[in-house]
Amino acid sequence: MVGEPRKAKTERKVTRYTYDDIKEPGTPETGHTSLLPAEEQAVTFAMDNGWSEAITVGNLPEGDGRPVVVDMDPAVDPVLFWAAKRNRREVPLLPLQRNEIVSESRIAQIIDRTRKGAEENIIGPAQGHLFADLERILRESEREKRIEFYTHDEGWKNKLICGDSLHVMASLMHYENLRGKVQMIYIDPPYGIKYDSNFQQRVDSTKNDEKDAADDVVTIKAFRDTWALGIHSYLSYLQERLYLSRELLCETGSVFVQISDVNVHLIRAVMDEVFGADNFMSLITFKKTAHAASTLLPTVSDYLVWYARNRSRVKYFPVYVRKRRVGEEETGWDMVESPDGRSRRKMTIDELLDHDRIPDGWRVIGHDNLTATGYSEGTSQPYVFEGRQFKPSVTGATERHWKVKPEGLDRLVAKNRLMVVGNSLRQKRYLDDFPHSPTTNLWEDTVVSGFAEARVFVVQTNPKVIERCIFMTTSPGDLVLDPTCGSGTTANCAERLGRRWITCDTSRVAINVARQRLLGAVFEHFRTRNGKVSGNFKYKTVNRITLKSLAYDLEPEKVELVDQPEVEKDALRVCGPFDVMLLGRYSVEDWKGYVVRDDGTESAKLENYIEVICRLYRKDAAIQGATGLVHAVAEAEKEKIAISVGPLSGRVTGKQINDAVQDALASGILEVHVLGWAFEANVGEVKSQLEKRGRVKVALIMIRPDTLAEGLKATQPEMLFSPLAVPDIDFAKNGKGEPALRVTLRGVALFDRKRRTTEYKRADSGYVSAWYLDEDYDGDCFVDCQMFFDFKKAPNIKAALKAEVDPEEFALKLTSEPFHPRRYKRIAVKVVDVYGHESTVVRDLP
Ligand SMILES: C[S@@+](CC[C@H](N)C(=O)[O-])C[C@H]1O[C@@H](n2cnc3c(N)ncnc32)[C@H](O)[C@@H]1O
Repeated sequence: MVGEPRKAKTERKVTRYTYDDIKEPGTPETGHTSLLPAEEQAVTFAMDNGWSEAITVGNLPEGDGRPVVVDMDPAVDPVLFWAAKRNRREVPLLPLQRNEIVSESRIAQIIDRTRKGAEENIIGPAQGHLFADLERILRESEREKRIEFYTHDEGWKNKLICGDSLHVMASLMHYENLRGKVQMIYIDPPYGIKYDSNFQQRVDSTKNDEKDAADDVVTIKAFRDTWALGIHSYLSYLQERLYLSRELLCETGSVFVQISDVNVHLIRAVMDEVFGADNFMSLITFKKTAHAASTLLPTVSDYLVWYARNRSRVKYFPVYVRKRRVGEEETGWDMVESPDGRSRRKMTIDELLDHDRIPDGWRVIGHDNLTATGYSEGTSQPYVFEGRQFKPSVTGATERHWKVKPEGLDRLVAKNRLMVVGNSLRQKRYLDDFPHSPTTNLWEDTVVSGFAEARVFVVQTNPKVIERCIFMTTSPGDLVLDPTCGSGTTANCAERLGRRWITCDTSRVAINVARQRLLGAVFEHFRTRNGKVSGNFKYKTVNRITLKSLAYDLEPEKVELVDQPEVEKDALRVCGPFDVMLLGRYSVEDWKGYVVRDDGTESAKLENYIEVICRLYRKDAAIQGATGLVHAVAEAEKEKIAISVGPLSGRVTGKQINDAVQDALASGILEVHVLGWAFEANVGEVKSQLEKRGRVKVALIMIRPDTLAEGLKATQPEMLFSPLAVPDIDFAKNGKGEPALRVTLRGVALFDRKRRTTEYKRADSGYVSAWYLDEDYDGDCFVDCQMFFDFKKAPNIKAALKAEVDPEEFALKLTSEPFHPRRYKRIAVKVVDVYGHESTVVRDLP
């Protein structure tokens, strides 16, 4: 569906694309974490095309007794072997949770305010919601249904997911019902050379400083998994994701892997194994830079390795390029004909290199075969042209026939479409009969300097490359997946081209960069055929004059240029709604066998994650065997302390805090410490309500993100744990007697990695990357109503708006636009610091 535009006279409407006509199962929201089943599930995926059965493992007679592959069944294609190559992999199944609904677009709000300011000539901007209210009404009307996840259908929303691609892909298949539903997968993995170079450590800069190294569990774990055995682990990493890609692709689907020349041969071998050599489509070479500094042969290109799920059924649309110079067409186009059609000459070098240099009216001509093999009654006879007789077969050795009937040949003569080349009669063609040729597997127009927008990520792909892949292999409304989001180039391209998208990344920095990029984007509005994007766009068409159309006076063929949808000039499009998601409950598997050093002398193997955390927090913690939410009890000076630990990835919920307090009270303990890696937005409120009721004291404790990464070198608890720090906000009335409010962000808590302390920084001190306001927080899921961040490069919308945008609009503001309290009389503010850490505060409105 195309979003309801709001239109004013003579103004361009603001639109977005939505996909309510495509249904998907309802997904749990972070507020529902406690309702999810507690038990862990895992599924085993085969990573095998039959190779494991085809090999014979044995001992060589003169070998050292170690088993080796001694033979392989030649009926199975050869495969590549590497250390720890497995033919199956168990993947934990973690449900995706919707954490945030992005229904507004920052740029849409800026446009709205600018227009109102210009129209009404009011001083200061007015707040308008183009789309958030639509979303809110929808959510309220479906309130009951929302906790019946997976059992009811809802309208499709695109997805930006923080999590490891392996888990995300397994979850998409298992919970989101997307097996066989993805049309195209674009993978731009680390190139397998230097993994670190693929990370960006700050949202606000592409420069990486060692002191800013990534510190979150998910990224570090992904790093470890990908690189434990160097290139060997890297190949397992890709093999696993490729096997899952294959499962997710639909029959007509395609996968592209972007890679450099260092490992392209290995990737091809792995993709041959996973997709089958028969499904290889192409190896595309694309130019990434014009010049490269090197004392040896400079490298200026990268590769796309393209495989189909099933080559015989693949969806493929040629993308045409206009022939403008020699080399962009088949050979043979090297003559021009005068405007009256009477004289011809060879083209000059200049004309060959640039068709714009051909004098006006002169047309580039070429010639083509007029005959086909075999005898055919009525068309194998000789034909007389300009007094000379021509036979279809020149040598007479094999029978041939004219491609058109004699009356057709007569028409070709009348239209000056025959010419003699050597002893043959040939069809004369003009380049403008169809001045386009399909893109080949050599893309030279993709150099990085061709970026139209500012670079926001250290390893950002040129959108032109991804867009071409989307054009070639998908239709509007089709689903595109990129399990290597980075700055979200694929999501952006898909959004621009009206394709549905899912993307994921382990790095919070990447997720935040991608979100900001989408929220600040403006696109052209492409005209749909029936009001729905999935009903396809209208395209620019060009005529293709063919031999048949000339010989039989037929209409020329109409060819759609799929990369040139018709643009609605009266509209300006912004990003459609999308969900920001995370994976609930990481496996505690990783903790098994984790070593805690006790006084540096003895190492104890702890089997249990909760035990590890409790023992790190308080050495004397007595682990509780019971099933309640008090996991351990420690002795303090006067009182006992109950300790409760949140899930390894997933958040501590208000419910967990409540339950832990009830369990503690039942045992007569009045102080409860709840430890977690992340907390639900409302936990501050839960804590103060519990404490208000008296008696009990609750401490919310953050576990440092790099506790695991540092190999527990620092075992002093004060270094690993710190009280939960929430953003500091303030309210003010918009004006005297007015019910509207504004929120001001005052400060954000930042973890100093060097000193390992948390400090409050003022909001204007350069540590805030973005902040978001939910004006009516329902407790289940954060809905972005207002959003604030610095634009790297402000989009040029002056001409479209016929008004100048206040440059302040593109800067990070610290005070919100005015808004009215609504149903829940409660707001939530989410702040993202420059390292991508998010913290949220929930407040009841005064
Ligand atoms: C080369 S970058 C992709 C850049 C992207 N094409 C762009 O234009 O911005 C690779 C990305 O994959 C992410 N990544 C690496 N391992 C991952 C994993 N196991 N799961 C999810 N994302 C991963 C990295 O964090 C990095 O952002």
